[in-house]
Amino acid sequence: MNNQNTINEIRSKINIIDLISEYVPLTKKGQYYWGICPFHNDKNPSMSVDEKKQTYTCWSCHNSGNVFNFYEQIENITFPEALKRLGDRVGITLDGYKSSFNTKYNKYYEIYDLTQKYYQLMLNTDKGQAAREYLKKRGIDSDTIKEFGIGLALDEKDKLVGYLKEKKYDINTLNDLGLANNDIDTFINRIIFPLDDRNGRVVGFSGRIYDNSKMSKYMNTKETAIFKKGMCLYHYNASKDAVRLSKYVIVMEGFMDVIRASTIGIKNTVALMGTALTDEQISLIKKLSLNVYLCLDGDNPGQDADLHNGELLEKAGLNVKVVCLTDDEDPDSYILKNGEKKFKDLVENAKNYSDFKIDKLKSNVNFESDVELSNYVNKVIKEVSTIKDEIRCEIILKKLAKETNLSYNTLEKKLNEYKSLDEEGKKKVDNNLIERKDVKKDKYQRASIEFIYYMLVNPKAIKVYDSKKLYFIDSATRNLAAEISYYYHQYGKIEIADFYTYLNDKKELLDVFSEVQSLNLDEDINDVTLMEYAKVISDYNMRQEIKRLEEKMRKEPLEEEKIKILESIRKLRIGE
Ligand code: UTP
Ligand code: MN
Repeated sequence: MNNQNTINEIRSKINIIDLISEYVPLTKKGQYYWGICPFHNDKNPSMSVDEKKQTYTCWSCHNSGNVFNFYEQIENITFPEALKRLGDRVGITLDGYKSSFNTKYNKYYEIYDLTQKYYQLMLNTDKGQAAREYLKKRGIDSDTIKEFGIGLALDEKDKLVGYLKEKKYDINTLNDLGLANNDIDTFINRIIFPLDDRNGRVVGFSGRIYDNSKMSKYMNTKETAIFKKGMCLYHYNASKDAVRLSKYVIVMEGFMDVIRASTIGIKNTVALMGTALTDEQISLIKKLSLNVYLCLDGDNPGQDADLHNGELLEKAGLNVKVVCLTDDEDPDSYILKNGEKKFKDLVENAKNYSDFKIDKLKSNVNFESDVELSNYVNKVIKEVSTIKDEIRCEIILKKLAKETNLSYNTLEKKLNEYKSLDEEGKKKVDNNLIERKDVKKDKYQRASIEFIYYMLVNPKAIKVYDSKKLYFIDSATRNLAAEISYYYHQYGKIEIADFYTYLNDKKELLDVFSEVQSLNLDEDINDVTLMEYAKVISDYNMRQEIKRLEEKMRKEPLEEEKIKILESIRKLRIGE
């Protein structure tokens, strides 16, 4: 039995309703089971699970898939790991399973892996002396160097490039991957920190200067097919075990903060790498833990970032605490200066986000000014209205009444006003979400995705696709259609849940595929209707092509060339 069949067998032996129910309560309504989607900040049950197809779809965030997709994401593990664990449950072992997935990117990962090892070696050469001393001076010992895979890019323009070319990697790929820039090494004379993706694979590097060079302090790999800065958190995968034990994750600003914390045994940390917190990072954090401690720099920008990020994280449903560092310290410098115990105390005494915010609100208020005072009171009450714990609300209001000399009753009345307002506000947000789903599609776009739907459920559509050689302008749609046709000819039928597995190494097609999945059309369709669909699609292509040619003609200076183009347009028009 080959791998693909074994994988499909595991899939078919695990009922998706049972699996998802382990994490999310499901209720049956009509054809589907429904539950709160665990992959976004869902308030109403937006995720439907289709027992017949053995797939799930969230109608709000458009996450969809089969048992493997769900398990991978909820457990935050790789596909092979999901396969192994689910296989164990049903007593099927995949001997010597090697991922046949990620074929397109395997080479990239391989190159980054080699590069990291290469940089690590360079740190230990004679020429690495100065860099080693720099690290030593910063108190980073050899265990830490190993733990974080720290390396060194030497002061020569073709070091890494030369090495990788010798291994027969092509220079264009190295340029694409940000390892080379115009055919020479991107990183020169920098200490190298490898950056991992959420599964712990190296997907980029950051290089720090270590002499008195005037270059920018850190330089990062440019965005590539597998590296998007806002989608990564430094030390994410490596923090998982520690987070599981401590039940919270500490978010810091920089690499050095995380590395320093690790030297005193604090490993439940991730770093933002100097960027603003993105939605993707928030959902990554959410998968680690619902409890977040923000521990950003102690300077003003750092405090502002605590405020802003805390707000975003709370909105996403996380419990936020803030570790307040003294002015102008970052965790790295704080630990060096004050030692392990003081820092651990600080973490233990982290403030609730709302307390932190209220303290901040108070910091510049002139209590003598009526306007400032009333402003302050209103802002505090608004903040209190977001706190679910009623006892805490009461404590804060009592404190507020005392310090402002206002009656508790007045403050409570105001609080109730804010609370009802807040519910209105929330309702609005939910409505926006629903509206966003129905972005208007034109006739061509609708025909494209509907046609793809039929390709999945009815072989007649695949026949039409093949014989008409249908072309879709959008590359994801085009590639998805090609994969469906290929899959059908290879396996003779299409089981939607198994097709999800097949798309594992083609994640860029998942969005369109999910969109197609969320259509609810009949499976029966006759040839005439299919041909109509095909005509809408090819007519559109033809019009696009004519537009392109007309544009080309306008720019063409040679009369005889113009005539040739005109002839092509004429042929297109009459359908030749
Ligand atoms: P910091 O300047 O706080 O860096 O920037 P740091 O961690 O304290 O580093 P050291 O102690 O000076 O070595 C925080 C983060 O912002 C990103 C890096 O990810 C850094 O860890 N950064 C900073 C850049 O990407 N480029 C820069 O030029 C500076
Ligand atoms: Mn620092």
